[in-house]
Amino acid sequence: MKNTMAKTALRYDYTLDTSYLSDPFYKDTIKLFSGSDSVDLAPYFYSSPLFENDVVRGAELASKIWDSKTYYLRNAEAEILEQNSDQIAQLIGNDADIIEFGPGPSESVRLKTMALMRKMASIRSYTALDLSRGYLNDAKRMIKADFPHIPVKLHQSDFYEFKIRTQSLHNPLLVFFGNTIANIPEDADGALPYNTLKALRKIRNNFGESGLMVIGHDANQNIDSIFSAYGQKDYTNYAMNVFHRIKRDLPTQRFDPEGFESKIEWIQSYYCLTRYAVSKRDQSFMIGDRNFTLSKGQKIRFCNTYKYPAELMADLAGLAGFEHLQVFTDSKKQMAVHILKPSKSNNLLPLSAA
Ligand SMILES: C[S@@+](CC[C@H](N)C(=O)[O-])C[C@H]1O[C@@H](n2cnc3c(N)ncnc32)[C@H](O)[C@@H]1O
Repeated sequence: MKNTMAKTALRYDYTLDTSYLSDPFYKDTIKLFSGSDSVDLAPYFYSSPLFENDVVRGAELASKIWDSKTYYLRNAEAEILEQNSDQIAQLIGNDADIIEFGPGPSESVRLKTMALMRKMASIRSYTALDLSRGYLNDAKRMIKADFPHIPVKLHQSDFYEFKIRTQSLHNPLLVFFGNTIANIPEDADGALPYNTLKALRKIRNNFGESGLMVIGHDANQNIDSIFSAYGQKDYTNYAMNVFHRIKRDLPTQRFDPEGFESKIEWIQSYYCLTRYAVSKRDQSFMIGDRNFTLSKGQKIRFCNTYKYPAELMADLAGLAGFEHLQVFTDSKKQMAVHILKPSKSNNLLPLSAA
């Protein structure tokens, strides 16, 4: 109990410590409430409690959804890996150094990454990058139990910012499951899903010209099943939990996470399921030294998940500098797993910010 009190007091003492000003969570939250659509809070969803009875526990709430029947993403992708890992492993070849972006909960690692690893001839190493320390530790525990001789490295960092030293790897294999590639800020810029293209290009530039990428994404176009997955109460609790994190981790005054309710919308022209926090009443609050006023019913768009048809994702991968080797889908064609190889060509389309 004493410990809990100390942590609580420390977290709210911002009078001397202004380091929060450079915290990406602070900056993105300020942008969000300032009306920007170019921010997505999803990377901050996977939080851990800091003290007993802490309501901020996004990673735990996420695991609950992934275990639910209506959340088709994990089961459909697991089906693809179960049925096609032999073939994928052949494309990968020997002595792979696996790098996994965002492994997530251990059950995801077991059903997907490890299903593939079991079919691979030989593996030299496994490295995981995730923002959540809890997920990283779980992934290591899971992999060490079945592959005790494979060295495991963990990096708690943003995979888009982390420099992968592929030169020191024998046969790099990038594993990126769960549609994480398409959980990004608003993507509308003319006809192209520009932010996804930029993300793929960033990975391609980081990755260099060797190895393979195995990437899974949500290709589902059935709106009913999308709404069943994302409209369920557990998903709403998980997504809205980030507002409790704002209150816990940022210097706020009068900020009430219960002052918002969730609303989802499907934007067909962009294949986008978008989530809003709707202000339940007229309210004003402070974050840092910024004052925000919201009227009742005002909508704040705070996360998006894109569901590109598999052919569109293949085209984007080509534009980003990958050669498209193969695509596998599940029996309901909800998820797609693409096998991509960095192309040698250096005549890539310019993408200034990538
Ligand atoms: C949608 S979940 C997918 C989890 C798992 N791969 C699966 O397929 O079920 C996204 C995962 O990526 C992590 N993540 C999201 N954005 C990230 C970022 N920018 N850098 C590192 N990890 C990130 C999250 O913590 C979470 O574990």
